[in-house]
Amino acid sequence: MKKTLLTTAITLASATAGISQAQAAELTISCGAVGAELTLCQEGVEAWEEKTGHEVDVVSTPNSSTERLSLYQQILSANSSDIDVMQIDVVWPGLLANHLLDLREVLGDDAAEGHFDTIVTNNTIDDRLVAMPWFTDAGVLYYREDLLEKHGFDVPTTWQELTETARAIKQAEREAGNDRMQGYVFQGRAYEGLTVNALEWVASHGGGNVVEADGEVSINNPQAAEALDLAASWIGDISPNGVLNYTEEEARGVFQGGNAVFMRNWPYAWALAQSEDSDVRGNVGVTQLPAGGEDGESAAGLGGWNLAVSRYTENPELAADLVAFLTGEEEQKRRAVEASYNPTIDALYQDDEVLEAVPFFGTLYDTFTNAVARPSAPTGDAYGRVSNAFFSATHEVLSGTKDGAQAVEDLENELLRLKRRNW
Ligand code: GLC
Repeated sequence: MKKTLLTTAITLASATAGISQAQAAELTISCGAVGAELTLCQEGVEAWEEKTGHEVDVVSTPNSSTERLSLYQQILSANSSDIDVMQIDVVWPGLLANHLLDLREVLGDDAAEGHFDTIVTNNTIDDRLVAMPWFTDAGVLYYREDLLEKHGFDVPTTWQELTETARAIKQAEREAGNDRMQGYVFQGRAYEGLTVNALEWVASHGGGNVVEADGEVSINNPQAAEALDLAASWIGDISPNGVLNYTEEEARGVFQGGNAVFMRNWPYAWALAQSEDSDVRGNVGVTQLPAGGEDGESAAGLGGWNLAVSRYTENPELAADLVAFLTGEEEQKRRAVEASYNPTIDALYQDDEVLEAVPFFGTLYDTFTNAVARPSAPTGDAYGRVSNAFFSATHEVLSGTKDGAQAVEDLENELLRLKRRNW
């Protein structure tokens, strides 16, 4: 039963090089596979295997955080020991805590020393450190330096400016024969990524954080409605209709293929957009996301991933040792330099090699440390349902079935119903 669950639900990505297939691995780790993630994870695991002589299977998980969560929930609710170490999203500690080990018990009280306090606090549920910070994330704006210069535009600082600039450049490029050019690509599919994009639009317009730190449901306000309406106006204008089904990788594909002026994405897209086989290599700028109008401010959604050890593991100490190694300074530096994954260790933001590889880790440092959290802390184990309600409502506005005002009113009712039972 356990194996069936795992083998049907997850692709066995690879048994690490040099390991005999006949020999059972001692540990299994599940990693993401967005961009270069899986390769990076495998390389890190191999280094630990060489150092310790132990064997690890690496399995990949679906790219969508929403799908990954339901997979983990199935595996963990079956008390399955199939996966020892899990890559978990920054919004999941409250949802999964009961299934995870307290890493301080195995690694000691100073296990997370040097890591950003906010993430350590986020990962601490009822005084238990249920995951070690691995990389942090914040939404950033990618733009085509060459196209802005060619058409005489500045980097936009408000969403309204971005809309105008994207439209003008898209039209000019199309008139010049580039009929695949788009203005703006982002994550518009109905999944966790849309929750982050929509939170950024709403928060940057002064419309709050959907549910506030004290548990109050705040989404039903005019700024939130206005932010969603503005985003809906992009569809079929500066953004393709297909964006309603885009995750991170679809947006990156369009931008990296040279077919978009602007893209909202996470920092991982930098190393790939600047890689040798990228069509936009050398022409990419990265800055903070625009503010919602003159009175608004830039709001970057906080993301990131952590490594947790399942309570059902048969090898808790070995699993925790692998986690400590992968989340340690050397690995975090390698991941930053090779693939622009943001460290969770503050000192690495002063490291010359890191800053040379990813200059915006320095220039946008404040963006990374002040990113806006999704309301996972106040809503606890109801967060999955809260996020589902929010991205579904947003998707309805983007696809034109509701306007912003109606959507935030309906969403408020739904969230108040959830709040009565859950927080
Ligand atoms: C990134 C973020 C993660 C977020 C996801 C949404 O992977 O790091 O926190 O949930 O994107 O698509």
